[in-house]
Amino acid sequence: MTDAILIAREHGLLTLRLNRPDKKNALTRAMYSQLGEALQQADADPQIKAILITGSHECFTAGNDIADFILEPPSDLDSPVFQFMRSLLECRKPVVAAVAGAAVGIGTTLLLHCDLVYVSADARLRMPFVNLGLCPEFGSSLILPRLLGQAKAAELLLLGESFNGEQAAAWGIATQALPNAEATFARAREMALRFDKLPPEAVRISKQLMKAPDRERLRSVVEEEGKLFVQRLRSPEALAALSGFINRH
Ligand code: COA
Repeated sequence: MTDAILIAREHGLLTLRLNRPDKKNALTRAMYSQLGEALQQADADPQIKAILITGSHECFTAGNDIADFILEPPSDLDSPVFQFMRSLLECRKPVVAAVAGAAVGIGTTLLLHCDLVYVSADARLRMPFVNLGLCPEFGSSLILPRLLGQAKAAELLLLGESFNGEQAAAWGIATQALPNAEATFARAREMALRFDKLPPEAVRISKQLMKAPDRERLRSVVEEEGKLFVQRLRSPEALAALSGFINRH
């Protein structure tokens, strides 16, 4: 257990707060394990009606911990990061995200699997996988071209261009952009708590229907991307880029 993930319960809402401020909430293997387990437990607990994933007002997450990528890279699809991805992908309950500050790498791609995403207008989202010698992950190579068209998705996935919360909302990556972090967190909480008053079985069946058309395809894309990602992590291109980040000062 680590306090890098703070878990709180309010009525039927379970909040998972990323809390590693000294490293911009970068996600370690232990944090992925804890997130994955919390999602699975919430999914099985009849008292929980919705899950809220959030970071701080300053930062959502800087993505995977880069030191972990070098020292303890995921070796196969049973590694904690992939278990977390599967738990989110398969979660039957509504998952809401509140995003302010930087959301990098998996900090952006996990949003593609949340049901409602509230984002501060000045949040900075980015998927610098290619820049790090890696490749898209967590279904982003399927979802983003569909959502944005090939040409715009290429800017985000091949060039690793960053974008803000307003753009995320305009493109359908986020539900709504709000003026600042406070408003974003308040709105996300308010909307997530609405599930407390809705009939849970109707919510579950409706989410299932919304996800069903893409589910099999997504499972196989996430697996295909994951295998390539694991290989890329050991490539000279990635090792040079990742070491470059660690040794930048
Ligand atoms: N993994 C490990 N450590 C990270 C990290 C990551 N993904 N992101 C940030 N950190 C650490 C920094 O090394 C630094 O640690 P230090 O104080 O011990 O030197 C600390 O967090 C603060 O980061 P810093 O870069 O100084 O903050 P910033 O406000 O200038 O920038 C970010 C914030 C998120 C924009 C920037 O840190 C960043 O781009 N991080 C890398 C993101 C990334 O490439 N993620 C992987 C995607 S696959």
